[in-house]
Amino acid sequence: MVEKNNYDELITSSDYDKKAAGEKSVDFIEDGMTIGLGSGSTVYWMMKKLSQKVEQGFQVKGIPSSQRTERWAKELHIPLTNFHEVQTLDLSIDGADEIDPHLNLLKGGGGSLVREKIVNTASHYVVIIGEKPKLVSHLGNTAVPVEILPFGWEMTANYISHFGCTPILRQKDGDTFISDNGNYIVDCAFEPISNPKALHDQLKGLVGVVETGLFVNLADTVVISEDQTINIL
Ligand code: 5RP
Repeated sequence: MVEKNNYDELITSSDYDKKAAGEKSVDFIEDGMTIGLGSGSTVYWMMKKLSQKVEQGFQVKGIPSSQRTERWAKELHIPLTNFHEVQTLDLSIDGADEIDPHLNLLKGGGGSLVREKIVNTASHYVVIIGEKPKLVSHLGNTAVPVEILPFGWEMTANYISHFGCTPILRQKDGDTFISDNGNYIVDCAFEPISNPKALHDQLKGLVGVVETGLFVNLADTVVISEDQTINIL
């Protein structure tokens, strides 16, 4: 039984589009591949479909990009591996919060950006799945998540603010959100971002910053669903 979540309840058109894009992306997975398993509700649908293929004898091994994805993989009987056993992955499939025309991404809505970036970077090919409203002309409609060390986080947030945002310490259930890596996340609302690489490089250069949710030059293909019609970019 897969752990209880709300994703199986298809209510909005966005839910249907997440399911359609997630399921379609399984076409990219070939027998014998090692794959990066991204995070988020769209990835959930990819994994559900993949689990059916595994049940039919498909041989894959995945590296999960979050503890929640790891739990899902175990529940869905998707075999797992790790970076002790493999150094590169054939393919990663992941979600995103925003996708620009150059296939640069804003990610980290679910707080898994560090592991997602490690898994995507280790992959020969990265497929991003999502629904049409995630396509934007410029990244930055939503705040950029930045994972930072808890020690001295106030200082780090202050340094980040010099780049033109007011960092908000992410909360969950009334407490400070803690990432899978034991860190904090600050959400940083910038004006539309004209140069995601430059902003990423600046933020990444600050002491205390672990990683940013700006994923530049990592995605190879995007599978987008609009009214459950698939477009591949
Ligand atoms: C988590 C992520 C997710 O991939 C992103 O937030 C998209 O999530 P969803 O598929 O639920 O819309 O980056 O850190």
